[in-house]
Amino acid sequence: MENYIICNCKKVYYADVENELLKQEKFENVEKAFEDVQKVTHCSTGCGGCHDKIMNVISEIMMK
Ligand code: FES
Repeated sequence: MENYIICNCKKVYYADVENELLKQEKFENVEKAFEDVQKVTHCSTGCGGCHDKIMNVISEIMMK
């Protein structure tokens, strides 16, 4: 399984984001998915430098 740290500030891993996305009933759009994931994992609430990385990962997972 793919896993690596995606947000250093908040210690959020790829798997944390993936797990959260899998819990969602449907994907509306990447922005919405990001907000939901952020609420739970607090990713990208530190320096914000990981924002684009997280958006990419979410789109990647959504397209699977
Ligand atoms: S690395 Fe994610 S907020 Fe800083």
